[in-house]
Formats: sequence, structure tokens, C-alpha cells
Amino acid sequence: MKGLRTAALAAILSSAAYLVLADDTTCENILSPSYPVPAVHPGWKAQLIMEGLVRPRTLEVDAEGALLILDAGVGIRRVTFTDHGSTCLEVDENDLLVDDDRLNHGMALSLDGRTIYASTPDSVYAWSYDPSTGSISDNRTTVVDGMQSSVHVTRTLLVSRHSPGYLVIARGSSDNLAHQAHDLDAGVSQVRAFNLNNTAAYPIDFVAGGRVLGWGLRNSVGIDEDPATGRIYAVETSIDDVERNGELIKEDNPAEELNYLGTVAEALEREDDADAPNFGYPVCYAVWEADDIPDHDGLEVGDQFSIETNSTLNDTTCSENYVSPRLSFAAHTVPLAMRFTREGSQAWITFHGSFNREDPTGYTLSVVQFNDGEPVEPATSHDSVTHIMSMADLTTCPDNCFRPMAIAWGPSGRVFLTSDSTGELYIIERRADGPSGTQSGTIERPEETGSPDGGDDPDSAAVGVSAVQSLGLAVAAVLTGLLVAM
Ligand SMILES: *[C@@H]1O[C@H](CO)[C@@H](O)[C@H](O)[C@H]1NC(C)=O
Ligand SMILES: *[C@@H]1O[C@H](CO)[C@@H](O)[C@H](O)[C@H]1NC(C)=O
Ligand SMILES: *[C@@H]1O[C@H](CO)[C@@H](O)[C@H](O)[C@H]1NC(C)=O
Ligand SMILES: *[C@@H]1O[C@H](CO)[C@@H](O)[C@H](O)[C@H]1NC(C)=O
Repeated sequence: MKGLRTAALAAILSSAAYLVLADDTTCENILSPSYPVPAVHPGWKAQLIMEGLVRPRTLEVDAEGALLILDAGVGIRRVTFTDHGSTCLEVDENDLLVDDDRLNHGMALSLDGRTIYASTPDSVYAWSYDPSTGSISDNRTTVVDGMQSSVHVTRTLLVSRHSPGYLVIARGSSDNLAHQAHDLDAGVSQVRAFNLNNTAAYPIDFVAGGRVLGWGLRNSVGIDEDPATGRIYAVETSIDDVERNGELIKEDNPAEELNYLGTVAEALEREDDADAPNFGYPVCYAVWEADDIPDHDGLEVGDQFSIETNSTLNDTTCSENYVSPRLSFAAHTVPLAMRFTREGSQAWITFHGSFNREDPTGYTLSVVQFNDGEPVEPATSHDSVTHIMSMADLTTCPDNCFRPMAIAWGPSGRVFLTSDSTGELYIIERRADGPSGTQSGTIERPEETGSPDGGDDPDSAAVGVSAVQSLGLAVAAVLTGLLVAM
């Protein structure tokens, strides 16, 4: 990694020319955000292409290339664009396909693209969909229900490609620290898979009819299946106000997590759902800053630690009885969506950002490198993410700031990204003429966010932001691995 970073830094330092945006000035009707323009990795460029959404939480692209937007509190929109190339997209049609203000987060398309699934806090519904006419059938069917619970009310939906016919649903806890999570039958803090071919069982009860992929998960909103291997990963938003033996250690602990949940096939083969991996919530959490944890002898990034140390619960029992994250991320950065690239060589993750931390953190679209179904970085890494688009100055967050949420793969290797708090849609494209190389940076320190190499070159991102401000465009350059992967 070190060699790559050095190469990348050299590339960045010679990339001042890429801050000139001549190739985009021909685009008419450029939209600009009302908040400071986010900084974009020098290998990429980004453009705001749509405003006026309410809370765009999930994106899907249909077989005809139309964008489906789950707009929470509104319903499902179907949007088409006039594509002028590059980041110049103009909204053409914008139809409210499903008018239902209870839809609040989850949406997925069936493998044949002819059924749309979407969720409320209690239920998953299906509509027959014709992508060629952009229309849905009137006969909505309830396929799963029995998910009503408070506090964490999103129900993320994932259609498995490796186990056709299975829908995976992620459901969070009913409180910040909820003891119900110990009880598998309570149905909270877990991810389950449902056989949708079993139409006679509709609506399938979440607890009675779903096989468990993982539990002991506080709120794993972002979940995806690696298309190459079928391995399912989930990003976990961990607890607020964590204590260790009564001492508050919340500032930089616990870590947010990337957890490996196995495959749907493995979940189906298991005799007892209770044997599914348990990730420790609500008693064991992952370390981010070990030094801030009392009695932290031997603890490293990503290790499980207990909120209390006694004769039955302690760091040893945590690490023996529960599964540690495959990667850890800075506390309070709030990873909310994850999408693997088509070859599974990267997972793109949105970090929605802290909402009440004294020094805001997160607010970035980032990438984690994968190889053969495994993250490339070790579990002890403090530095596993590369930022593609992020707020350079976090002091304006969360109020005057974007909050990255949904990701989808658009046409010609471009990426759609929403900011749900501001009701916006961006398009992001790799710069063909940018410098090569790859970099990573931690996301917990504002001065490093958006900078190309973890603060080694703090000025270049700032220059990028000011140079693009007047155009309402964000600047960028290249990441070799990313172009190949898209
Ligand atoms: C709606 O009805 C059609 C025709 O009977 C059927 O093929 C389709 O599966 C139904 N769609 C849903 C979502 O129930
Ligand atoms: C569900 O039905 C589809 C289409 O017939 C088939 O490909 C798939 O294998 C079935 N899956 C299960 C679990 O029955
Ligand atoms: C150890 O701590 C856990 C978590 O606070 C608590 O539930 C348990 O009762 C404690 N056990 C003993 C023996 O004190
Ligand atoms: C941790 O818990 C285990 C299992 O109850 C116990 O055997 C061990 O002594 C405890 N360790 C400490 C340091 O209390």
C-alpha cells in the first residue's frame, strides 16, 4: 500500500492542470448546492443533477436505464435523463411511480427487473413493473410483514444473485442499547433471508419465515452481496454514549464496522438459526481508539471489548463468543449504504456523518478495496477507506452540508449518489485524463477529509474546492483500480 500511496502522491502533486474544468463548461443549466461544494478525489469529478427530492434513501437502475428513487415519506420516483455525456445529465421525465408516504428506506429490483420491492417499517411490498413502459401493476402484494419496532425503522432490502429467489432484509435494534437483541425470536438487530418463491406463505412473518444470516447487529443499514463470490457484507452503525465499567468513552469509540455475514446458501444449510454469526450487540463492541478505553491492555483496532468487565463478561468472552468486524471505521461516521462494484473488487460506502458529535465526522462517499471476497486491508487497519467525495470543512455539518446516502451504478461507469438531507442527486465520473495511483485516508479528522493522502498534501483538496465553487462543479483526478473495476 505504501508504495502505491507514494506513487499517488507524486501523481497528485503534478496534477494541478486537472483543476481546470474546460470539459464541463459546455453543460447548460448547471446546478450548484446551497452549501459549500464537496471536495472530490482528484481522480473523479462530480455534478449535482437533481434537486427537490424529499429524502432519497435508495436508488436502483432498471433494465431500460431509468433511475428508481425511494424517496422516503413520498414513494418511488422513476426518473429519466437526457444524457449529454460525462457529468452533464438533464432530468427528462420525473414520475411518482408509487405514491405511498409510509415507504421509508428499502427498495430492490428482482433479478429479472420486473418486480419492485419496497419497505415500510413493518412490511415489504411487491409491485409488478414493466421497465419498457415505466409502469407498475395495481395489484400490490405484501410479501413480508411483522417488522414493526421503534427507533431503527429502516428495512434494507437485498435481492440475492447467488441464491435466486431469496430476499435479504436488514432490521436494526429498537433502541440505542436494546437488550431484546439477545433474544433471536424478538426479530430485532438481525439480518434474515426469505424465499420469495413461496408465494403461498405471503405475507411471510419476519421471525417465523426468515433464515438468519447474522444477529447481534445494532443497525446494519448498508448491506450487499459480492457479485463475484456471493459473500454478504454489512456496514454497522454502532452505539452512542458507550461506557466501559461506567466510564463514558463515547468520543472515538466504538468503531463502526464492516461485518462478514456469510452467504445465503450457508444460512439455509445451518440447522439452528442461533448458530448464525453473532456480532456482539448489545454487550460487546469493536475498538476504534484503544487508548481511550480503560484497561485496554492487548486491545487493538477491531477487537471486541465489553461494556463491563466481570467474571462472566469481559474482553476475552467477547472475542470468544462473538464475531469481530472484518474492518473497522471511525466512531460516529455512520456508514449507511454499501454497493459492490460489478467485479466485486471494491465496496463503495456512504458515511452519512455524525449528527451530534462535538467535532462532526463522516460525510463522505468512500471506497474499500476487495480481492476475492475479502477486504484487502487487515482487520486492524485504521486507514482502509479512500474518499471519493466529502465535505472539506466539517464544521458546517450537519446543517450546511451534504449527507451521502444512496449509491447506484449508472450508465458508462458513472455513479449516482444521493444526499438525503438536502434532497439531491449527484452524478460522479472518473476522470479519463487524471493522474493514476490510489490513496487512502482516515475519515475521523476533518482536516484529512477529502485530502488525497491522509493529510500529507492537505492543500490540494482545498484548492480543488475553491477552484470549482463558482462553477458549482467538483474537481477530481484518477484512481487506477477504480476505472478497471467500474
Ligand atoms: C399482479 O397480477 C398479475 C396477473 O395476475 C401477476 O402475474 C403478478 O404476479 C401480480 N403482481 C404482484 C406483485 O402480485
Ligand atoms: C425461485 O424461482 C426461480 C425462477 O423460477 C428459480 O430460478 C430459483 O431457483 C427459485 N429459487 C428457489 C429458492 O426456489
Ligand atoms: C457482567 O456485566 C453484564 C453487563 O453489564 C451484566 O449483565 C452481568 O450481570 C454482569 N455479571 C456479573 C457476574 O456481575
Ligand atoms: C472472563 O470471563 C470468563 C468466563 O466467565 C472467566 O472465566 C474469566 O475469569 C473472566 N476474566 C476476568 C479477567 O475476569
